[in-house]
Amino acid sequence: MTAPTPLQLRCCAASGCRSAGADALQAALHTARDQLGGAAEGVTIKPVGCLRLCGRGPLVAIDRPAGASELYADLSAEQAPALLAAATGLGQGDALAKQRLDPAHPFFALQQAVVLEGCGVVNPESIDDALAHGSYAQLKRVLAAFSPEQVREQVKRSGLRGRGGAGYPTGLKWDTVALQPPGPRTVVCNADEGDPGAFMDRSVLESDPHRLIEGMAIAAFAVGADQGYVYVRAEYPLAIERLRLALKQARAKGLLGAGIAGSSFNLRLEVRVGAGAYVCGEETALLASIQGQRGTPRPRPPFPAQVGLGGAPTLINNVETLASIPVILREGGDWYAAIGTEGSKGTKVFALSGAVAHTGLVEVPMGTTLRTVVLTIGGGVPGGEGPDGGVKAVQTGGPSGGCIPAALLDTPVDYESLRELGSMMGSGGLVVMGESTSMPEVARHFMRFSVNESCGKCVPCRAGTVQLAQLLDRFVERRAELADLERLEELCRMVGATSLCGLGQAAPNPVLSTLRYFRQEYQAACRQPAQCEPLEACLLQEVSP
Ligand SMILES: Cc1cc2nc3c(=O)[nH]c(=O)nc-3n(C[C@H](O)[C@H](O)[C@H](O)COP(=O)(O)O)c2cc1C
Ligand code: SF4
Ligand code: FES
Repeated sequence: MTAPTPLQLRCCAASGCRSAGADALQAALHTARDQLGGAAEGVTIKPVGCLRLCGRGPLVAIDRPAGASELYADLSAEQAPALLAAATGLGQGDALAKQRLDPAHPFFALQQAVVLEGCGVVNPESIDDALAHGSYAQLKRVLAAFSPEQVREQVKRSGLRGRGGAGYPTGLKWDTVALQPPGPRTVVCNADEGDPGAFMDRSVLESDPHRLIEGMAIAAFAVGADQGYVYVRAEYPLAIERLRLALKQARAKGLLGAGIAGSSFNLRLEVRVGAGAYVCGEETALLASIQGQRGTPRPRPPFPAQVGLGGAPTLINNVETLASIPVILREGGDWYAAIGTEGSKGTKVFALSGAVAHTGLVEVPMGTTLRTVVLTIGGGVPGGEGPDGGVKAVQTGGPSGGCIPAALLDTPVDYESLRELGSMMGSGGLVVMGESTSMPEVARHFMRFSVNESCGKCVPCRAGTVQLAQLLDRFVERRAELADLERLEELCRMVGATSLCGLGQAAPNPVLSTLRYFRQEYQAACRQPAQCEPLEACLLQEVSP
């Protein structure tokens, strides 16, 4: 009789791999295991979240009893028997050798998992598995031994800044909410993630939803809130499904609801599904949308931390911000503050995509250079050559950000450095562009996005973005005049300075940054002024019969 094989196959069951056939592969693995019978007894097939290298999915990791793991990419359902053979050692040869990834590859070796530590490890649909990996331990600890002030102190010490884009200090925001006059408070998680090229928040929700719930519960305790909402965009059905399941499981275990974990702390958490408007990610528009109103921004102040849902102080934080909280409590604020740079602490999750060899999720310490992220971790442009790996520019910050040229790849990725370059961190989308990319076209692409997503409430954004897009058309279609360059810059300044919310204020950034670094492309797209022939030639023509 064959001895049981205590092996585990971790199968990525997040959106990226599912779209490449992960469900069929997992079903085929179950069938193949059944067919092997006793020989595969004890082989666990475990669905997990994102294993990071999303562009090579479906991915499966084999965990060996001795502790070693192997990761396989580009798998298909037909390869399920070969994968089981590789796991159990029962087959002949090594059919999947070419699909086995090297764990020492910089894509994996240079990452530091803090927010993503449970991604690809826990089963996102099982609270028991999440508990076995430490979920809710910090919430229980905080409720048993911490005051709200002590929690806020740790968050302040950590130096954590909001990961939703603006980088506002999280501890300071928590203090602002907590120190408002007595009364009800609400905590809201912003999971609208509308930036093109961003999929970090979706991955956290799909891969480790209990981490977010725990972070939100700790935040609610720290600011004195007893209700909360996770606002998720409708385009994320799997994230919504898993989050709803996780909330149900947490309520059933007494980790949400009344008297959490035997304490006097109560928290009701619900999911609110957005209706697909990018501007609803802006915090005041988001609050309007939760309350059933049209999702348009309003002027600030007052800030939501002062006057939010139903007029009560409301804490709004991004998914990644809140998912960082359990680790900060576990390891301590000082531990977190020791990672990163002077002004930007901790790690940052990036969604790396575009013209890059390794597409996926990357978590690195703040201050890691763009070169390391894009070339060493990302592998540069496929087939790209030279010291910059065929990279022409890197777009950060989505429609509010900018394009950074390859010459500046040695820039550390932190809030201040990116801002100095005319871009911004944004939520973490990094889109790599190769040599053949036309920068006026890139600028027009983002401007058209802003035109479509402008809510129309204020004129500079509603009309200005349309005019900017029309001006950019002239460059892309090579019918611009040199004077259009000035018009473009002037209009950018006007729209940025006079729009009501961040969408309009930052919409010119992709234009301004491409003008700053790739001006010659705009100039080359201008019609040249009619060339005058030398005077003698003109006169000669006139007197000629
Ligand atoms: C047009 C626009 C869209 C935004 N979209 C998002 C979003 O999808 N997710 C997010 O967390 N923040 C988004 N923000 C930023 C939020 O307004 C807010 O600053 C953030 O949720 C605060 O959380 P944080 O302090 O954890 O970063 C957006 C802002 C603007 C102006
Ligand atoms: S800047 Fe644009 S999105 Fe923001 S309120 Fe004005 S019109 Fe709406
Ligand atoms: S979705 Fe499977 S590796 Fe990211």
